[in-house]
Amino acid sequence: MKSLAQLNKYFLKYKWRFLLGILFVIVQNFFAIYPAQLVRKSLDAVIKTLSDYQVTGADHNALVSALSKTVLIFLLMIIGIGILRGIIMFMMRQTMIVMSRLIEYDLKNDIYAHYQKLSLAFYRRNNTGDLVNRISEDVSRVRMYIGPAIMYTINLLVLFTLIIIIMFSVNTTLAFYVLLPLPFLSVSIYFVSAKMNSKSEDVQEQQSRLSTFVQEAFSGIRVLKSFVKETQSLSEFEKESGDYKMKSMELVKINSMFFPLMLLLVGLSTLLVVYIGGKEVIAGNITTGNIAEFIIYVNMLTWPVAALGWVTAIVQRAAASQVRINEFLHTEPEIQSNDENRIELKGEIEFRNVSFVYPESGIHALENVSFKVKPGESLAILGKTGSGKSTVANLMVRMYDATSGEILFDGKQVESISLTGLRFSVGYVPQDVFLFSDTIGNNIAFGNGQGLNVISENDIHQAAKDAVIYDNIMEFDKKFETLIGERGITLSGGQKQRVSIARALIKNPKILLFDDCLSAVDTQTEEQILNNLKRQSEGKTAILISHRVSTVKHADRIIVLDGGKVMETGTHDDLIGRKGLYYELYEKQLMEELM
Ligand SMILES: Nc1ncnc2c1ncn2[C@@H]1O[C@H](COP(=O)(O)OP(=O)(O)OP(=O)(O)O)[C@@H](O)[C@H]1O
Ligand SMILES: [Mg+2]
Repeated sequence: MKSLAQLNKYFLKYKWRFLLGILFVIVQNFFAIYPAQLVRKSLDAVIKTLSDYQVTGADHNALVSALSKTVLIFLLMIIGIGILRGIIMFMMRQTMIVMSRLIEYDLKNDIYAHYQKLSLAFYRRNNTGDLVNRISEDVSRVRMYIGPAIMYTINLLVLFTLIIIIMFSVNTTLAFYVLLPLPFLSVSIYFVSAKMNSKSEDVQEQQSRLSTFVQEAFSGIRVLKSFVKETQSLSEFEKESGDYKMKSMELVKINSMFFPLMLLLVGLSTLLVVYIGGKEVIAGNITTGNIAEFIIYVNMLTWPVAALGWVTAIVQRAAASQVRINEFLHTEPEIQSNDENRIELKGEIEFRNVSFVYPESGIHALENVSFKVKPGESLAILGKTGSGKSTVANLMVRMYDATSGEILFDGKQVESISLTGLRFSVGYVPQDVFLFSDTIGNNIAFGNGQGLNVISENDIHQAAKDAVIYDNIMEFDKKFETLIGERGITLSGGQKQRVSIARALIKNPKILLFDDCLSAVDTQTEEQILNNLKRQSEGKTAILISHRVSTVKHADRIIVLDGGKVMETGTHDDLIGRKGLYYELYEKQLMEELM
């Protein structure tokens, strides 16, 4: 329950709406109760008119008109109050439920904003499904507490107090017997709703398993068909779908107990009203109208009392969800920056005895790596797969902090410079290309720092030309407006890499960091891109990561990584002359090319 205190600040934010809502709830209840009293009054009035008639023996027509007049007046009053109540109820929901939606909106935004601050290591620890669930599923459960649960609780408290005061002021004995079954109703509803919730969670879970299954089957449809696995896939689907059916049936069974149970207990109360009330009328303690009034009260109490059990279950679920939400909200980002200025770096990079161990796997990815690049220089990092090249890139853009050693930009420790400034100054092309489901043009324009300078169509085209993807794009029907991703076309591996290079180039950064992003491009196109880069990168620092000698050979300096250690450093000619690891790789790749 303590977890829900996290929400108090939102209640405070919407306090006027909240207080107004409570006011509407209270007023609404007065209007709800009043008709019951009118029913009593009208019944009593009718009985009185009838008995007066028996005493005086007046005209029959006069009686009928007197009766219809009485009944009509009461009828109109009841209808009038009903309409008023309807209006107040509308206002009640407009304040309370709307407040809950507003808080839901704020909460979602706050969670999303926090998610974005968390570092890469956090995303490696937690799976995407979990992240999505906490921002959607869990937030909507919390909303059920903020809106309906609080509204019904206040409603119940007010209504209950009012009705109990009235009932006891009319007749204590009758009131006592009538209220007797209600606690049983509340407790049993609590158990039924708890059961209902757990069953509906089962159904929900099975539902998501079913959709995951279907999704996977369809995305792998090519494999499925080529291995002729349709029948097997169908029988697996039938099994999952059968589980879903079974779980739904169980839920229906519990659901169908809900109303009969409620009606049984209400019926019991009504019976008691008629029986005990009848005796009281005979004893002359109450009027016949009182019985009618009580029956209405009993029926009015049913829903709120049942809701009490329901509300308890909702609050419990909300509290559990809020615990999950808080867990992420209170996670501190590992990468801290105390400065958010968008400074521009000059482009000098230095690694001093940097070692790095991946926190989640304990793998020693880098050991004592040292190198220095001056502004305007190009540095290439060559190494076999798993040698730690991407790790160097990760550390440069501060996706992680080094375990030991120092990383310096322009002579300053990376931890001391603004994270925003650092990332703005680096045009990073990651190894695993990710493009958004948007047009090609927008994907390239994405690289431009949020409106730092407005980019023109020309800039986009120039970046595409520099990345040697322009001609490819112009061959598409819609050119730069071509959609990519799920609803659009699928780009080839090499095309994707080049779009993502264009995205980094349009940023016009001081430092270019290319992580193996030419691997799927043929050597000729690679040559072209590298030439463009050379022309462009006047005064820019370029870091080229690759496992191909052809990519790195023109760099001002090359370092060869193996097993996380720097094995050799020098220019292409130096390294060839040394006849070490670099030479070995060069010979092997030359052979492959010739074959
Ligand atoms: N996020 C991670 N968590 C844990 N271990 C990792 C992670 N990323 C890489 N590693 C490990 O660190 C080592 C170096 O990996 P890295 O990605 O830097 O190699 P690489 O030189 O870029 O290889 P490739 O040429 O295949 O891209 C490998 O042993 C790898 O298994
Ligand atoms: Mg890599």
